[in-house]
Amino acid sequence: MSNFPIVRMRRTRQSDQLRGLVRETHLSVEQLIYPLFIAEDLNEPREISSMPGIMQWPLEQLGHEIERIAALGISAVLLFGIPSEKDEVGTQAYASQGIVQRAIQRIKAVAPQLMVMTDVCLCEYTSHGHCGVIHNGTVQNDESLELLARMALSHVEAGADLVAPSDMMDGRVGAIRHALDEQGFSAIPIMAYSAKYASGFYGPFREAAGSAPQFGDRRSYQMDPANVREALREVELDIAEGADIVMVKPALAYLDVIRQVRDHCALPLAAYNVSGEYSMIKAAAQNGWIDERRIVMEVLTGIRRAGADMLITYFAPDVAQWLK
Ligand code: PBG
Repeated sequence: MSNFPIVRMRRTRQSDQLRGLVRETHLSVEQLIYPLFIAEDLNEPREISSMPGIMQWPLEQLGHEIERIAALGISAVLLFGIPSEKDEVGTQAYASQGIVQRAIQRIKAVAPQLMVMTDVCLCEYTSHGHCGVIHNGTVQNDESLELLARMALSHVEAGADLVAPSDMMDGRVGAIRHALDEQGFSAIPIMAYSAKYASGFYGPFREAAGSAPQFGDRRSYQMDPANVREALREVELDIAEGADIVMVKPALAYLDVIRQVRDHCALPLAAYNVSGEYSMIKAAAQNGWIDERRIVMEVLTGIRRAGADMLITYFAPDVAQWLK
């Protein structure tokens, strides 16, 4: 029962103007969050071999990069630290003069209006590379909470505008909320990595952040890629514990999860277009197999169409440039 030829879908596809008027999903620079790696023992920026174009930055050289990011109109950076010293309990994660704490101060001095978000997780700071403390070969949930809360608090004391726990311990959003409120930081929002899957797409990041687990894997705390109802429970729990923004991560293999979370709750929703998703596009583009710009815009539009409000992406500076 087609109405053709009365109805013709091609009528509204005839010109850029008409396509613009009927477009349903928009990408804009204020939706972008750019992850940054700050390394304590570097003097010069070091390119991450599995992530062409992405650097580990020494503190001393961060200023120019921050000026560039701010000038592009990007809303926020998300900081990851690579400390020169690691130990069993990730001491450098909550040291007042730790690498991230100093980076926050430096960024705020250069670009006070740029939002500084921090990843809260112990894996870059522990000698074993797990996201919490280990006893008897297993990651201890409740003992890790106190350290994660200390880490978040130290970031906020250094000037962070928002904290983003990515460790996947149960109860961490509540523990962090409680610690921040107790110290007078009730206005600082928490962006919870609520549905964070145990994913092969984090491979390049672990080189970038030096955070690969030294034994085992993260499947006892990160989610099984096969589950979506469980993601909705994670989201509900994080909301109950006080999350202000929820996140789905990775993005591309989880567009259905993004959509379901979007339909399930009213919170702002972030999606993390992770390292492996970046590297795959870069590698194919470098081989001349795909048109990088076109693919990046298509992918990010797809993540927005699935329901994400904001996008954490290593392509943020390129996209900001292309949108100008
Ligand atoms: C820390 C953390 C990871 C990522 C963000 N925070 C790695 C992991 O959980 O192993 C991945 C980001 C990316 O791949 O771009 N726990």
